[in-house]
Amino acid sequence: MVIVVDDNKERLQKVMAASGVASRRKCEEIIQSGRVCVNGKIITELGTKVSKKDKIEVDGNPLTKESLVYYVLYKPTGYLTAVSDKLGRRTVMDLIPADILKENRIFPIGRLDYDTSGVLLITNDGDLSYRLTRSAKEIEKVYQVRIDGIITQDGINQLMKGILLDGRLTKRAKVEVLSLDKKNNSSLLLLTITEGRNRQVRRMCENIGYPVKKLKRVSFGGVTLDGLSVGEIRSLKPHEVKVLYSL
Ligand code: URA
Repeated sequence: MVIVVDDNKERLQKVMAASGVASRRKCEEIIQSGRVCVNGKIITELGTKVSKKDKIEVDGNPLTKESLVYYVLYKPTGYLTAVSDKLGRRTVMDLIPADILKENRIFPIGRLDYDTSGVLLITNDGDLSYRLTRSAKEIEKVYQVRIDGIITQDGINQLMKGILLDGRLTKRAKVEVLSLDKKNNSSLLLLTITEGRNRQVRRMCENIGYPVKKLKRVSFGGVTLDGLSVGEIRSLKPHEVKVLYSL
């Protein structure tokens, strides 16, 4: 009788991402550029599966499991969400204490615009990053939005039902009006969306005639800015990481 032993094979990019090499997408690029060896052989196939027994090397260095770290940064406006910038502009990495940067190959999960502030998750766990940014995942992101103009009920309904962006309706959103400032002709909204399309909140509001004056993400998958000042970072608590994995 043949006994089939399930040695839990996983996709190479998933194993690399979960070891803290980079995000899953970046790991795919690293594989395709021929920088990864499995058992001494260069692998460029993205479908390759590996098990614990396989010897994986990236740029000639054995893959060792980095301890995974998770932070939330209160991103200020005026910083790019990127690990580096060819034009030398300030990135969110400039806000991370040197001892954290020295120890871990961390990167931001998803993106906030240069002129958006708020919750930005930072990690070296490429697997979690992949789970949270996959478009099929409906992770709630809550934005505090200051718009030009006094929003009407019709405007609120449109935001909730969906706005046509690039030929595709946005998914249902929740809208709460926090305040209406008639003197300055502006409204403050709390908008909850589950997608992460490019400049989505700004484009949704602009499309119905309300340009965004100020945008702050106040929550990502339940992680908030509580206890943080602008530019500050804190480690996520184990239960917060658990919740993010369960979403
Ligand atoms: N929506 C936007 O328009 N910008 C952001 O930074 C995030 C969401």
